[in-house]
Amino acid sequence: RRQAISSEAATVHSVSDVDALSGIDWENFGFGLRPTDFMYIIKCKRGGEWGKGELQPFGNLEISPAAAVLNYGQGLFEGLKAYRTADDSILLFRPEENAMRLNAGADRMSMPSLPVDTFLHAVKQAVLANRRWIPPPGKGSLYIRPLLIGSGGVLGLAPAPEFTFVIYVSPVGCYFKGGLAPIDLKVESFYHRAAPGGTGGVKTIGNYAPVLKTQLTAKGKGYSDVLYLDAVENKYVEEVSSCNIFMVKDNVISTPELKGTILPGVTRKSIIELAHSRGYEVLERPVDVEELLVADEVFCTGTAVVVNPVGSITYESRRVKYNNGEVGKVAQELYEALTSIQMGHTEDKMGWIVQL
Ligand code: COI
Repeated sequence: RRQAISSEAATVHSVSDVDALSGIDWENFGFGLRPTDFMYIIKCKRGGEWGKGELQPFGNLEISPAAAVLNYGQGLFEGLKAYRTADDSILLFRPEENAMRLNAGADRMSMPSLPVDTFLHAVKQAVLANRRWIPPPGKGSLYIRPLLIGSGGVLGLAPAPEFTFVIYVSPVGCYFKGGLAPIDLKVESFYHRAAPGGTGGVKTIGNYAPVLKTQLTAKGKGYSDVLYLDAVENKYVEEVSSCNIFMVKDNVISTPELKGTILPGVTRKSIIELAHSRGYEVLERPVDVEELLVADEVFCTGTAVVVNPVGSITYESRRVKYNNGEVGKVAQELYEALTSIQMGHTEDKMGWIVQL
């Protein structure tokens, strides 16, 4: 079946329906890169305006070895998802939130901000042009990865003379091996992810490679991921390498407050709002690691991980298990509430969905 797509993307080519992607085993695919058809690119000179964006075939970027992103890490990324519904429409989840977070990061990283409308237009074009890669309903989503990078060359330390905004996409399933099964976290008490006054609160690329060392060590010992503590007192919980963290005690939900060292997750914010709307008390406050060890439930949130229950936490020589390896009641409730909105199964009373 061939199906033409609407808007600007249609001028590039028409794409075949998802049925044509018979090579993908939709039952068994995780969170890995699968190159798709198109990427969307816009450029801007330092101090200038953003040019006209365009779809290009997905492929390598040509970039100077002196690019500020390669030499000095002048780069940001975002992550959001598109879902296919049973009636074949496409749903984006709160994309303006990503646009605003990107712009907060751009300010911190001395890069130009991108008008929210330009961001939204770019996301829509990238998704529509790659729509055949959006998994069938219930089988996953299309992960959308916007990047803002200092693509122009510099030698001395300075902002790039040219910036590139690019969006690529990839169909994804569950982030952690084992799907939504509870994960085992190791608390890291030597290395830190972020320091006060640093860049932990923005989605700069440089926040992610440094966590690989501890993550790989932890994975080698059978843990799923690492939980970081604050860099000042080494006792307050901050976040996991790739997601935010929540705990539940006596039906009260707590999550570390945003104080510049924690990523302001869109899923974190949505879970707080959803939990409030369902009558839960939600506290954004310092969470001592000792409290986590006596919590009734712990779960992680993020665009990639969605809502993932935590089955155990290991802190120094202590290991605590939660809910006998089962998904906790609150995590289950909030997971269902969130994903039913994201997938279009429930009416979106929050006004979060953008339908393409
Ligand atoms: C996301 O959840 O979208 C992220 O950006 C985390 C990333 C490390 C996969």
